[in-house]
Amino acid sequence: MKAFIRANTRLAPVAGLNLAGSGTQVPMRLWQADEITPIWSATEAELEQAGLDPPFWAFPWAGGQAVARLILARPGLARGKRVLDIAAGSGMIAVAAASAGAAQVLANDIDPLCEAAVALNASANGVEIGWLSGNLLEAPPPDVDVILAGDIFYQKQMAERFLNWLGSAAAQGVDVYAGDPGRAYAPEGGAAPVAEYNIETTTDLESVSQRRGVVWKL
Ligand SMILES: C[S@@+](CC[C@H](N)C(=O)[O-])C[C@H]1O[C@@H](n2cnc3c(N)ncnc32)[C@H](O)[C@@H]1O
Repeated sequence: MKAFIRANTRLAPVAGLNLAGSGTQVPMRLWQADEITPIWSATEAELEQAGLDPPFWAFPWAGGQAVARLILARPGLARGKRVLDIAAGSGMIAVAAASAGAAQVLANDIDPLCEAAVALNASANGVEIGWLSGNLLEAPPPDVDVILAGDIFYQKQMAERFLNWLGSAAAQGVDVYAGDPGRAYAPEGGAAPVAEYNIETTTDLESVSQRRGVVWKL
């Protein structure tokens, strides 16, 4: 999987994301695809499966960029804490949390390719990220201090399941932040916006070149 990712994406900076704590402007770099259709077709061919979900791991989604920016701007939200990046995709948020000085960073996604993508992206940015496999929504939230999620409100049933699960984590005292760029099923009540950013994106991915990314605290 790592060889497939290296062969079909390139290591490139994410505009507006500089790693925390370096004292200099070191850009976060992720293994990214330029366009969605070729990497999607290549993934289906590699896995010998049709009808797969898009290769989310190959792009820094706007909702995740908003969370990563918040963590890099306010590293104290993660510093010294046990952090979970759920629905991690590339692991961009996990990289941000690790660079902010989190005591432990775990990432999870139901797409098995994400494990390889997260490992490659952790290594590219010189940070350590652990991996939790399986669908965490099928059990109570794990014992962490902070849960971060980027761009998870684009399908109705998925958004409802995430909101319930994240809500139960928040009720147990976990700090829960979710970033969203205006997807159809973003939270309307029970959450407070803590930050907003203009996020550069591509028309290939989003049909516009910029989205407004909001981070909600649940
Ligand atoms: C739009 S992508 C966002 C990825 C990343 N957070 C970002 O912002 O770049 C949504 C991700 O949610 C993942 N996902 C969907 N259902 C999930 C679940 N039940 N548990 C964990 N991840 C899930 C998908 O596989 C996909 O990687």
